[in-house]
Amino acid sequence: MVARGMAKTRTVFVCQNCGSKRSKWEGRCSDCGEWNTLVEEKPQIERKGWVSKSDSGRRVEATMDVYNLIDTPTLDAGQRIFTGMNEVDRVLGGGLVKGSYILLGGDPGIGKSTLVMQIAGALARRNAKVLYISAEESVQQTALRARRLGLKDERVDLASESSLDNIFASVLERQPGVLIVDSIQTVFTEDVESAPGSVSQVRECAARLLTLAKTKAVTVILIGHVTKDGSLAGPRVLEHMVDTVLAFEGDNHQQFRILRALKNRFGATNELGVFSMSGDGLNEVANPSEFFLEERRENRYGSAVFAAIEGSRPVLCEIQALCTSTPLPTPRRNAIGIDVNRVHMLAAVLEKYTALSFIHRDIYSNVVGGLRVTEPAVDLALVAALVSSERQTPLPANSCFFGEVGLTGEVRGSTLAMERVKEAVKLGFKNIYLPASNEKYLNLKEFMGTAEPTFHWIREVSQIDNKFSQSALASHPRDSVSPSL
Ligand code: TYD
Ligand code: MG
Repeated sequence: MVARGMAKTRTVFVCQNCGSKRSKWEGRCSDCGEWNTLVEEKPQIERKGWVSKSDSGRRVEATMDVYNLIDTPTLDAGQRIFTGMNEVDRVLGGGLVKGSYILLGGDPGIGKSTLVMQIAGALARRNAKVLYISAEESVQQTALRARRLGLKDERVDLASESSLDNIFASVLERQPGVLIVDSIQTVFTEDVESAPGSVSQVRECAARLLTLAKTKAVTVILIGHVTKDGSLAGPRVLEHMVDTVLAFEGDNHQQFRILRALKNRFGATNELGVFSMSGDGLNEVANPSEFFLEERRENRYGSAVFAAIEGSRPVLCEIQALCTSTPLPTPRRNAIGIDVNRVHMLAAVLEKYTALSFIHRDIYSNVVGGLRVTEPAVDLALVAALVSSERQTPLPANSCFFGEVGLTGEVRGSTLAMERVKEAVKLGFKNIYLPASNEKYLNLKEFMGTAEPTFHWIREVSQIDNKFSQSALASHPRDSVSPSL
């Protein structure tokens, strides 16, 4: 029992997924629907009402009529800091914006600390003042890594600190242009009682760093960890708070890494930067298409090249499919790097509109190189890979595919067809299978000359199967296996 007159310390239960608050514990957060995410935390002192007494005389410093915005200069080059790493600059929309607030998320061990250290080095080389705060590693560890990444004469201030107040003190002392905090889940402020990494801590620390970025015009780069399901750990508010959310992805066991902008107030999203991890850090990959097709072999069945668009850049990648007979009553449909529902749908469409049947077949599909493809234009490449695997015949040499497939078996036009075709031609692809409806948007004159490709205009998925069976017989008479019809 609480004695009368004594202040009762109430606790709140905060969902670690969405940040919503409850007065009592619940097994499932009724806001976001996640199980076992409510954690007991001590509440912060909250202001009552809109304005505190001491604030009552204040008002917003500058208000501006929208019409006057015409005279306001837009972001010019002077307000951007180029890192000098082309892939990073492009993903950011043309360099770091001064005073912007950036969150870099990724799985543990993917190379976030390596990337930001290289960015720090590149910035220092261009005379930017960088303060790198590691709340996870000692200064020696960080310095050792910097040395390994080839940083020698670059002046990057390193500190190992997890208290936010101390971080602020060193920012005021050193006056950096760019502040890097590795990671937001390990810094804490004593004003919040819950443990570092909890929603309240992350939210409070991030909010204060936001104030720092905006009032002192310091560019702040936060590193954030990613939870099991791939979302950034901590509350969603973190994503709302920052100007830019970057995701660093890839397979821990493979050497390449992909940097993408999920949100960017100063540039296009879904821009893609490709790196390969080596013994001495991350190397930028200037031509991702060559990189993703490096190990591809012609004459293999179940492999098709897809002309994808990642951000604003065309990227060719390999789509693989494997169809095998199954002992299971419900065949397996497996997809890596692609939505499994697409595989279900395309198998059903092929079942209906071609002579192929997948009823007693397992289907595995894969986007090679750890890429994730979300564009509907991948459909035609996946169809080609499926048909090729099921027919046990390689696709025609030097062929490349794109186009969306509808439920009535029709092939629909894709965006940026010209960019896709140009990239394919540049890499020496001769047979381009694309939606017939894209023809009127393509400037075919551009391709007249020596390396002119053959365009195969596709209206129906059945055409792929037909064309392919014929061309397979013509171009691979020996190694073709008779179709399993
Ligand atoms: P790190 O940047 O520490 O990952 P994160 O900060 O995302 O947790 O990188 C960890 C991995 O990167 C580690 O397994 C070793 C590898 N690595 C290299 O392969 N080459 C290098 O030059 C460096 C610094 C790291
Ligand atoms: Mg790290």
